[in-house]
Amino acid sequence: MKNIEKTYKIITFGCQMNARDSEKLAGVLEKKGYTEGIDEETSDIVIFNTCTVRENANKRLYGRVGHLKKSCAENRDKIVGICGCMMQETDEVETIKKKYPHVKLIFGTHNIDEFEKLIDKVLKDNERIIEVLDKADGIEKDMPSKRVYPFKCGVNIMYGCDNFCTYCIVPYVRGRERSRTAKSIIDEIKRDVDDGVVEVMLLGQNVNSYKGKLDDDSDKVLTFPELLSMVCKVDGLKRVRFMTSHPKDLSDELIDVIRDNNNCCKHIHLPVQSGSDRILESMNRHYTKEKYLSIVDKIRRELPDVAITTDVIVGFPGETEDDFNETIDLIEKVNFDSVFTFEYSKRTGTKAASMDNQVDVVIVKKRFDRLLKTVEKNSRYNSEKYVGRVMDVLVESKDRDMGKLTGRLSNNYLVHFEGDESLIGSIIDVKLMKACGFYFEGEKC
Ligand code: SAH
Ligand code: SF4
Ligand code: F3S
Repeated sequence: MKNIEKTYKIITFGCQMNARDSEKLAGVLEKKGYTEGIDEETSDIVIFNTCTVRENANKRLYGRVGHLKKSCAENRDKIVGICGCMMQETDEVETIKKKYPHVKLIFGTHNIDEFEKLIDKVLKDNERIIEVLDKADGIEKDMPSKRVYPFKCGVNIMYGCDNFCTYCIVPYVRGRERSRTAKSIIDEIKRDVDDGVVEVMLLGQNVNSYKGKLDDDSDKVLTFPELLSMVCKVDGLKRVRFMTSHPKDLSDELIDVIRDNNNCCKHIHLPVQSGSDRILESMNRHYTKEKYLSIVDKIRRELPDVAITTDVIVGFPGETEDDFNETIDLIEKVNFDSVFTFEYSKRTGTKAASMDNQVDVVIVKKRFDRLLKTVEKNSRYNSEKYVGRVMDVLVESKDRDMGKLTGRLSNNYLVHFEGDESLIGSIIDVKLMKACGFYFEGEKC
């Protein structure tokens, strides 16, 4: 009899942390003999890895989960599971319990390393399991992983966040800051390199506050620049990125390490959130507009080819037209290479949610449009300066419609160019011919 392959589908929302977690979930399922399915309707195991950083994410999720009711009725062995940040919120778990009986497994951010045990139990007993922990029990255990790209991956260096920016839910759903030891990080990266990885991205909500021991037996505690420098020296590792840097503690040492290591990518994501000192204080960000501008100056002085990207929130409680104009002014002064823009979203449980000066939604929309126009103008201006240069590109994929390869520069800009699929995964020289905002058209050298 033909052995019918069992399949899985993982649907990921949110940030790079979740993307990495999903690779671990996939690793566990592949180890169990499952292969990736075509879609959520036909796959035997479907896991939604959720994000809750903005309101309304739950509506989108429930729409998709609701749709699977029919395929679960048709395939009695099908398992739908939900995990990730949203599952750390009791109200959401209650909603699923009541309204979506076909969801068989719920777990949270603190017990992802129990996934194999949990899924085995659901498979064996065919009963619903809900296991969400309030807090993390140390650092998560090693897990297998199935990388989306064979040649690049994320590496967690720390978990959680202690900053409590007043708008942000992350510290409540990801728990307190915990750093991995340098040894476990380096060992993992060496294994990845042996397995064909050429680029890693070190992941943390605020990598600059990394404080990991050298190893389990050591008392020595490393800073992020010290760790980054060690990672850059791993044999065979061609590129190192990291995400995210909080401006309040970006040190001179970090800039030195980026400058002194060729394989350290020249890209810094440095979320500013607002250009108004009053709002920054109310957000609990611990820096001023002036301080932010001085950090940018220093970075650009030391790293001439660096790209600086940022996140901006519009309509934080109490934001006036003057405050917003400060944000626009900062964006024009900095000339970011890319800006991720967000309308403020009220997250229950955060300090900002109970502030009584919430901004009218019509005003927020108007400001948001103005912000987008400013961003568009500035980003195009920035990419023009690279035209005509030959730069190294990590080839990532081939676009079927366009028929061209897509690669990434060290500074994170994308480049489209003609070439053979066999180049995917290698780093090659490409001449940048035309700047098109967030990407270039190029020619292989
Ligand atoms: N740790 C990272 C950011 C994680 S969340 C940092 O500190 O930079 C990613 C982005 O989502 C944030 O930078 C912020 O711009 C946005 N964000 C977080 N909470 C938000 C909220 N309540 N409303 C709108 N945007 C929000
Ligand atoms: Fe959220 Fe601030 Fe922590 Fe980033 S640093 S995850 S914005 S609390
Ligand atoms: Fe979202 Fe959780 Fe990341 S809330 S942004 S997936 S840490």
